Amino acid sequence: MRTLLPELPEPSDDERAHAARVTAHVAARIDAAGGCLPFDRYMELALYAPGLGYYAIDRQQFGSAGDFATAPELGRLFGACLARQCAGVLAELGNGSILEFGAGSGALCRQLLEELAALDCLPERYLVMETSAALKARQMDAVAALPAELARRVTWLDRLPEAAFHGVVVANEVLDAMPVTRFAVTGQGVARCGVRVVEGGFDWCVNEPANADGPLASLAARHDLPPGYRSEYRPRANAWIASLGEWLGRGAAFIVDYGYPAAEYYHPERARGTLQCYFRHVVHDDPLVLTGVQDITAHVDFSAVAAAAREAGLDIMGYASQSAFLLGAGLMDVIGSGAPTAEGQLALSNEVKRLTLPTEMGELVKVLVLGRGLDRAPDAFGGVDRSQALES
Ligand SMILES: C[S@@+](CC[C@H](N)C(=O)[O-])C[C@H]1O[C@@H](n2cnc3c(N)ncnc32)[C@H](O)[C@@H]1O
Repeated sequence: MRTLLPELPEPSDDERAHAARVTAHVAARIDAAGGCLPFDRYMELALYAPGLGYYAIDRQQFGSAGDFATAPELGRLFGACLARQCAGVLAELGNGSILEFGAGSGALCRQLLEELAALDCLPERYLVMETSAALKARQMDAVAALPAELARRVTWLDRLPEAAFHGVVVANEVLDAMPVTRFAVTGQGVARCGVRVVEGGFDWCVNEPANADGPLASLAARHDLPPGYRSEYRPRANAWIASLGEWLGRGAAFIVDYGYPAAEYYHPERARGTLQCYFRHVVHDDPLVLTGVQDITAHVDFSAVAAAAREAGLDIMGYASQSAFLLGAGLMDVIGSGAPTAEGQLALSNEVKRLTLPTEMGELVKVLVLGRGLDRAPDAFGGVDRSQALES
């Protein structure tokens, strides 16, 4: 049986009971698959199995009372800066809508609409594409608290747009929540990792034996990965970008996430990969415990995303660290326009630190903007665009 890391908080009785239910569900899938389930399927079930997965239940995932904090959950600064950049794109288009993927608690949707209203640049419609029914219900509550003029613009989509979409696409910490293939380099090639059932829980297994051919082998060869190296690869993000290339008419997609260009992602020192799990703000790298009650993520390979975008006929409009992007988007002006009280100033200064310090989200989180049919890149990238780094 896998033991919980000592630094992990004790799960409550309810959390233990829920983890036991999810574990039984996943174990049945592993049995049905012959004893070893590909890791991406395990991650998909652990996060999204209807009524069971981490994002599919009524749990407080976001914010200080949850397991992790995303930028919009920290306050209004991220949303206010992003709104200014969305406004630039909507102005160039002469109009258009916003389509947000994976809207979490609905915080960013509320902030963007409020800020765009203040900028007098509201989108025609604000569409949300959310895979989790539980989160969709929470987003609906959040939107219901908005003034009617804003709330009436919001619609939840059941499927991707069929006709050309004109406007702005937003995906904050969505790609890192998409299931990944986990692999291990061996002397014989690259093996795909899977998950098997052991007494009291799960353990790793080899799902597909080492192969000297195929995309994983060429990835390992390209980055000279030595035997023993483990990491991740995310074909689902490439497929998501390919689909964006099909339905984006004119507009820009703001993709914000933890990650690096490929040369850093597959750096010799990152030999354990980038899997990260969050349980009540403790971060660790064992996705096979607390199944269904902890978040599982893996960083984004932004070079792979950029390559998929080029293949899909999309332009790379800019790439920068979150810190550089927010400063370029007017963070200092936004700060100056709020928080008159001493208490407010302290909260604001903490928020700025979380968003911009290199030891927090400032450097590790990147902003990549893809586009089509636009003449100008978002002005936040002036002087700080690092798209060249994605060529690795
Ligand atoms: C880490 S949370 C981020 C939530 C929110 N964007 C934020 O910044 O607080 C990931 C979100 O993406 C959703 N999600 C994951 N894969 C998705 C997909 N393929 N399409 C739409 N939503 C997705 C999850 O249900 C969840 O709402």
